[in-house]
Amino acid sequence: MIDIETARGWYPATDPVHGFDHILRVYRMAERLAIEEQADLDIVRAAALLHDAQGSQTEGGEEGRHDHHHAFSNFARRILENEGWPPDKIAAVQHCIRAHRFRDNTEQPQSLEAKILFDADKLDVIGAVGIARTIAFDVVVNQPIYVEPSARFLETGEKESGEPHSSYHEYLFKLSKIKDRLYTKTAQQLAEERHRFMDEYFDRLGAEERGEK
Ligand SMILES: [Fe+2]
Ligand SMILES: [Fe+2]
Repeated sequence: MIDIETARGWYPATDPVHGFDHILRVYRMAERLAIEEQADLDIVRAAALLHDAQGSQTEGGEEGRHDHHHAFSNFARRILENEGWPPDKIAAVQHCIRAHRFRDNTEQPQSLEAKILFDADKLDVIGAVGIARTIAFDVVVNQPIYVEPSARFLETGEKESGEPHSSYHEYLFKLSKIKDRLYTKTAQQLAEERHRFMDEYFDRLGAEERGEK
């Protein structure tokens, strides 16, 4: 068993997007999904604690970040080997970690445990927490919270040159699509409600920006 306090040391203390508070939320949600969906709890817990180890501070900057699911599946192997885990269970955890990324679908979740990690991680992108994380990220990288998207972006998802990627753009591009990408029934039900809340929030944000509310 991996101890939560040990896992805390693998993550930056203050990262609003991939810090340890994200890991704890994913861990609790993954545990809940694993119980309801009757998955292997050891694998799900280990995968949740290890899945973004070292967070956004991944070595290699932007490139390292895009590749973090591979780098950290190797990190996971080292940690679990030290813990004396059998190779098949280690491989199961590594599959969960490699398959959890939304933008890279070269390895899709095959096992129930990988589907659960994917779902728990993506539920953290939507709802009240998802909105807070998206806005926090945009503040850090100096992007605006709300910009009226171009007609081209609305139709194709591609921005006009110079068009900023505001939090609202991220909502249209990614957050609003999450609920249809989830695998487990339990997560799909939770996502429906989070989606409605988020929809209302971004509708209202736009209305306030335009002075309508
Ligand atoms: Fe991740
Ligand atoms: Fe994550």
